[in-house]
Amino acid sequence: MSKLWGGRFTKQTNHLVDEYTASIGFDQKLAEEDIQGSLAHVTMLGKCGILPLEDVETIKGGLNKVLEKIRKGEIEFSVSDEDIHMNVEKNLIAEIGPVGGKLHTGRSRNDQVATDMHLYLRKRVVELSGMLYELQKALIGQARDNLDTIVPGYTHLQRAQPILFAHHLMAYVSMFQRDIERLMDSYKRINVLPLGAGALAGTTFPIDRHFVAEQLQFDRVYENSLDAVSDRDFILEFLSHASIIMMHLSRLSEELVLWSSTEFNFIELDDAFCTGSSIMPQKKNPDVPELVRGKTGRVYGNLMGLLTVLKSLPLAYNKDMQEDKEGMFDTVATLEGALQLFAPMIATMKVNKPRMREAVNKDFSNATDIADFLVGKGLPFRQAHEVIGKTVLYCIQNGKYLLDLTMEEFKQFSPLFDDAIYQVLQPETVVNARNVYGGTATDQVADAIKRSEVLLRMTEQWLEEHQ
Ligand code: ARG
Repeated sequence: MSKLWGGRFTKQTNHLVDEYTASIGFDQKLAEEDIQGSLAHVTMLGKCGILPLEDVETIKGGLNKVLEKIRKGEIEFSVSDEDIHMNVEKNLIAEIGPVGGKLHTGRSRNDQVATDMHLYLRKRVVELSGMLYELQKALIGQARDNLDTIVPGYTHLQRAQPILFAHHLMAYVSMFQRDIERLMDSYKRINVLPLGAGALAGTTFPIDRHFVAEQLQFDRVYENSLDAVSDRDFILEFLSHASIIMMHLSRLSEELVLWSSTEFNFIELDDAFCTGSSIMPQKKNPDVPELVRGKTGRVYGNLMGLLTVLKSLPLAYNKDMQEDKEGMFDTVATLEGALQLFAPMIATMKVNKPRMREAVNKDFSNATDIADFLVGKGLPFRQAHEVIGKTVLYCIQNGKYLLDLTMEEFKQFSPLFDDAIYQVLQPETVVNARNVYGGTATDQVADAIKRSEVLLRMTEQWLEEHQ
């Protein structure tokens, strides 16, 4: 069979052109969505009296056949049919004869492909939210087990103040919560129907776009036909959100890599999530977080790629826009790959509590609290800061930590010191002193865990409503 658009042409297409312009190699991923959209479209054509109902039934039967064959892998897609839309149509016509050619009435591939992508992405956004939710649950589980685990908190990767390990983990729960909320919010803009925009200007047939929207469970239809066929900002928005998710995952990855080094030795990733070295038998490498960190680059690249493809494109559809797909598919696969490993990897991670404790005991991360102690005795904070700076310097020069100092030694730096300082300096006291909403005190973190449960319930509900 010749090209579906062959009428105007006097020659065959150069086969290199076929190969160069075809998208079937990757857009076959949209087969389910394409047929779903076509079923709704043809039902509408029947309802509006544009096609006789018996034709509609024949076409629907044919589409379902084609779908079944695609699922069974019985259809060989052809590059000369360019894309998934024309491959499906060709197979439909092969299945039911020329009546199949009526399906494309009142429609263009331009509004068709846009519809497919909206259908595809709205599913992925729900799936990915669900995977982020699983990761949150794993992090919260570890946080609950580590409500009494104190670790150094860092700034500039220098020990700063002791915190609960649970508090550190809950920071990621908050990040992933915003990621989920961003995806949920984007759903509103994805769940809009482009179909009915035609090639760019609408159609002469008396179609009912709202009926199609209802069948496909879209909340709204695009207001403007030109916008409907040339909008790809719903994909850009997804790629932006995906980039932020990867950025968050890359930070957690980096910490997992650091923490599992011999130098930190704070955690151990389960054997099932690590790999070995082909030459050094002792090695256990954190390949998964390393690779997630590395794959962040391709997701950012996909965002930059599409932003650049769309830059300065005149309205409405241009073939350039076919370049919107591979980056999107790749981003979805990259995110899914990372998230499906991250939840179980976090859940099975072993936390080396004694080692964390040792790190806290052997550092100066309680220094701020002595300054605060002196402030409590009436010394201005700037002066207190100076006093403690000198005290710390003395400790460093004498190989001591603050808790090793005798009262006599303390008094050298300020007469305001008294025995209470030894209690103030205990890591537990330091942590629990930060008893402010959102702070690291045990009660606060326990409350934060409770509040996160409420958020989990909200996500569960949203997921249920959008399955
Ligand atoms: N394969 C095309 C794409 O992905 C479908 C739309 C083609 N439209 C056109 N007017 N050539 O963008």
